[in-house]
Amino acid sequence: MKEYPKSELLNSLPGQFFAGLVKKVGEAIAQGHDVINLGQGNPDQPTPPHIVKRLQLAAENPVNHKYSPFQGYKYLKEAAANFYKREYNVDLDPDTEVAILFGGKAGLVEIPQCLLNPGDTMLVPDPGYPDYLSGAALAQAKLEMMPLLEENGFLPDYGTIPTEVLYNTKLMILNYPNNPTGAVATKEFFDETVSLSNKHGICVVHDFAYGAIGFEGERPVSFLQSEGAKEIGIEIYTLSKTYNMAGWRVGFAVGNKSVISAIELIQDHLYVSLFGAVQEAAAEALNGPQDCVGELVRLYESRRSALIGGLREIGWDVNAPAGSFFAWLKVPEGFSSMEFADFLLEKAHIMVAPGIGFGRFGEGYVRVGLLASEERLSEAVRRIKALDIF
Ligand SMILES: Cc1ncc(COP(=O)(O)O)c(C=O)c1O
Repeated sequence: MKEYPKSELLNSLPGQFFAGLVKKVGEAIAQGHDVINLGQGNPDQPTPPHIVKRLQLAAENPVNHKYSPFQGYKYLKEAAANFYKREYNVDLDPDTEVAILFGGKAGLVEIPQCLLNPGDTMLVPDPGYPDYLSGAALAQAKLEMMPLLEENGFLPDYGTIPTEVLYNTKLMILNYPNNPTGAVATKEFFDETVSLSNKHGICVVHDFAYGAIGFEGERPVSFLQSEGAKEIGIEIYTLSKTYNMAGWRVGFAVGNKSVISAIELIQDHLYVSLFGAVQEAAAEALNGPQDCVGELVRLYESRRSALIGGLREIGWDVNAPAGSFFAWLKVPEGFSSMEFADFLLEKAHIMVAPGIGFGRFGEGYVRVGLLASEERLSEAVRRIKALDIF
């Protein structure tokens, strides 16, 4: 077979750090070990039945067997706008301020290509969701990292970003509730972000993937609740986490009209739109009963108590996440994050994600997903206790 070389652009994409980890887990399972996999971010609960039912009905409708309209159905854009009004009291024009996405990931990877020319600067959080780097690489953008430090509540400190970097930056990505740290942002922080953007002409993209998941009664704030936010940026919302629809690939971008039209333009060239039945079911999720969301948050909250309470009891001094379904735990002294993750996999058959995989400032931590039952999380605590390292 002739081997065709990959393009330089493709070769410039960052390595898939977590692929190596998934392989190690596969090996441990193949050896017959009962691995507790807390290293990935795949919601473990099924999609609520009323949404599945709607998909089933919609799949039978021949209208949905045709190409759906470019840029998606108006009823889904209206459902997104209604959702933002109901949940966040944010007014959106469904025609000009909403773009339908094949999941949040697609939007996040497309946006740098929509707005940046090669060499333009993009600010991203470190530690952060690795796909921000993929989007930057495809746009041949210059990356500047914003350290997220524990002493700042894992919010970037804008005062430490050099002024020349701020003047050169065209695009900034933020994400709260945060993957991987579990931190949430305050409205004041978002207000400050809007001011910074206005001063330096930076387009802000807020990734609100975990928007529904806040603990101890705290509801995560939307970036668009800050005054002027939708004039200077957008928010990316996904149905993957709120409604356990990760496999369905549906989300939307809301906010600044020029960014929304740029997303729609690139998507006109890349795709037609989502399967109409998925769009109907997504509208059902957004417009329909919301009790499933409250139940899901309560489930994650009880898992959080089981894990964090259990770890504290065995002497591991850990912080509880304020939102998302991740706990961000400081590794014990003497281990790097990679060494500790390997140690847990080898000695306790527990998979966690080493912080270094999320960036340089992720070193010293591991990320643990609340994506297994309380029993399994308690079993993980028992196995860690048996290691006798605390
Ligand atoms: C921070 C963050 N953003 C975006 C996504 C993408 O989600 P999706 O593409 O399923 O909408 C994820 C998924 O894990 C995530 O953790």
